[in-house]
Amino acid sequence: MSDQGFPPRTASYEADPEQVGRVLLLYSGGLDTSVMLRWIGERYGAEVVTLTVNLGQPGEDYEVIEGKARQIGAVECHIVDAREEFAREHVAPAIKANALYGGGYPLFTALGRPLIAKLAVDYARRSGCDTIAHGCTGKGNDQVRIEATIATLAPELRVIAPVRSWAMGRDEEIAYAREHGIPVKGGVEQAPYSIDDNLWGRSSEGRWIENLNQAPQEDVFQLVTLPRLAPDEPARIELEFERGLPVALDGQRLGLVDLIERTAEIAARHGIGIVDHIEDRIVGLKVRDIYEVPAAAVILPAHQELEKLVCTIHQNQFKAGLDRQWAYLVYAGLWWEPLRSDLDAYMDAVNEQITGTVGVELYKGSARIVTRSSPNELYDRTLASFSQSGGLFSQTASPGFIELWSLQSRMAWQLRNRGPG
Ligand code: ARG
Repeated sequence: MSDQGFPPRTASYEADPEQVGRVLLLYSGGLDTSVMLRWIGERYGAEVVTLTVNLGQPGEDYEVIEGKARQIGAVECHIVDAREEFAREHVAPAIKANALYGGGYPLFTALGRPLIAKLAVDYARRSGCDTIAHGCTGKGNDQVRIEATIATLAPELRVIAPVRSWAMGRDEEIAYAREHGIPVKGGVEQAPYSIDDNLWGRSSEGRWIENLNQAPQEDVFQLVTLPRLAPDEPARIELEFERGLPVALDGQRLGLVDLIERTAEIAARHGIGIVDHIEDRIVGLKVRDIYEVPAAAVILPAHQELEKLVCTIHQNQFKAGLDRQWAYLVYAGLWWEPLRSDLDAYMDAVNEQITGTVGVELYKGSARIVTRSSPNELYDRTLASFSQSGGLFSQTASPGFIELWSLQSRMAWQLRNRGPG
């Protein structure tokens, strides 16, 4: 600790207390960032400007959030609706890359953070702030994504992350809030889940989720209907894709935001998109997350199905590795890394051909692809059919192919299995 009780700086982009005059605070309206708003004013003697970003998290009342920020003492409040940009610039490339981290997490938080941090940079500059504050803890991935973005895009700005350094637990935060007239909503007896959400999904962490042997308590699911309570009748939906992106649902053309929201609604009703996920965080920890990702659980498999149909065997083999690399970079907070845009160039090239329609049956938690078609498909029914011969495929050529195709494997087998002497 230095003289005034501030921990010493570790990284070049961290703020020294005397550098902090006007702070852009990424404000959610929750307990941490509300306490932070007042605490920054007190602790640094700084003015606080708040920024709240709408990425399509359901059920948020932005007027209430703004009112709260002003009441606690923000000198300026900004609410930004970034849903279109989020869908177009962040979710769309994720769809093209079939982006899943660890085999199950469609990255909604990881996709949102670089946009939130970029907007923080824009608004900090516009509002004459010298420092950006966020509410991430020191144990998560989100601090990495936000600070890497700020340090990349705005080397002149500084960062503070009070939750990482203040010694307040939840009870102390509530006491601080009470003492300073900061409204605390809801029951405070029990710590809530740690929630993050946007239009691409919702995550819950904390409480019993940390006990890996505890099966999910049902109160955690706020988006997706439990499969056993979902309708007894299956629903059939049809998703149409153009150049790698979904453009219509059941024949109705929709912008990406609306299409994702409508798909999420239908899929959630049918119990689709619950993921109970053990995850390797960037900072070394393993954690468990409960995800609710109804839209991603339908759109990603449908997209991948079209890729399988349209691309060659070589493209299909190759792309899976690039998809995994893309997801890992984004998960790991390196959104601005040039390898990501290099990979996007490949994703875009492949997805030029990914046009077509996929039918999905939704039933009590499962989304099963039942039909698929594309004007660019490499599937040829007459070639595939067992009963036909001729055309591009000569069955009499097969033995010659097999002999050459297996040549090296056969030679190696013989060598490794020759008897002694
Ligand atoms: N485990 C996910 C990730 O690292 C979700 C994180 C959710 N963030 C949060 N602050 N609750 O991307």
